Amino acid sequence: MNLLEVEQLKIWDANTNEIIVSNNSFHLKQGSCLAIVGESGSGKSLTCRAIMKLNKPWIHQSGEIRFKGEDILALSEKKMSKIRGKHIGMIVQNGMRAFDPSSVVGVHLRETIAQHFDWNKKEMEEKIIHAMESVMLKNPIEILNKYPFELSGGMLQRMMIALALVLEPEIIIADEPTTALDTISQFEVVEQLRRMRDRTGCSMILISHDLGIVKKIADEVLVMKEGAVMERGSTQTLFAEAQHPYTQYLVSTRLALSSHFKKIMEERMLIANR
Ligand SMILES: Nc1ncnc2c1ncn2[C@@H]1O[C@H](COP(=O)(O)OP(=O)(O)OP(=O)(O)O)[C@@H](O)[C@H]1O
Ligand SMILES: [Mg+2]
Repeated sequence: MNLLEVEQLKIWDANTNEIIVSNNSFHLKQGSCLAIVGESGSGKSLTCRAIMKLNKPWIHQSGEIRFKGEDILALSEKKMSKIRGKHIGMIVQNGMRAFDPSSVVGVHLRETIAQHFDWNKKEMEEKIIHAMESVMLKNPIEILNKYPFELSGGMLQRMMIALALVLEPEIIIADEPTTALDTISQFEVVEQLRRMRDRTGCSMILISHDLGIVKKIADEVLVMKEGAVMERGSTQTLFAEAQHPYTQYLVSTRLALSSHFKKIMEERMLIANR
């Protein structure tokens, strides 16, 4: 069953009339992970924000985006805010931007959860702490009382995953969730994303420049270039026999980068085990 169906999505800048994404169609199967890869500026983030209906007002979109058969582009903002977080969650690249800088992170978590559930204070606290512990955030109460700038990028990323564990959305959109992190934190966040899928059975859209991560988590891959889909297929097939020259280029250069990543990881493990 398709949980999400994107049909003929077109995105343009109403200020300049520039078409940013054209005729983008793809499906996300229940329980599956779809990776979107492609060069910088190819429209990956705008596509994801279109699904959440979170693009800037001058960024317009047409086409259909069906979540469980319902066209979400036709929904009112009120109805859409009930879907965001609870049914479709997003984990972004820069954790610092996802949290309100003027309050401690616990406030954001509690407010977001309270929008969707009628839990009492104790119940909510238990769920938050349990989720934080399961993504290896030690001393959760202390962390909940910290401001975003007091936490590392890896910790903020894990806070977003913990929030998703509490809300249990059917779809998680992770837009370069590891790009801003150092190698060790990247490795850990990827593990947490993988474990979240195992635990909740959620579907995932993963945007990543790191094809090593894509290979590890994704079932299917969509390759974008200049706002259009170049190629799509199962992860295995695409890596083994990329058809389009752009995909072949991407696979060859990015895998070279990934093996560099692996080498650094191995070296770090050796040092840690000494
Ligand atoms: N708020 C905006 N207003 C106008 N144009 C925008 C806006 N955000 C993005 N764009 C343009 O849309 C195009 C696609 O941007 P998008 O952020 O989706 O790319 P991307 O594939 O996610 O790139 P990256 O890999 O660097 O994150 C870019 O050319 C960008 O300049
Ligand atoms: Mg992007």
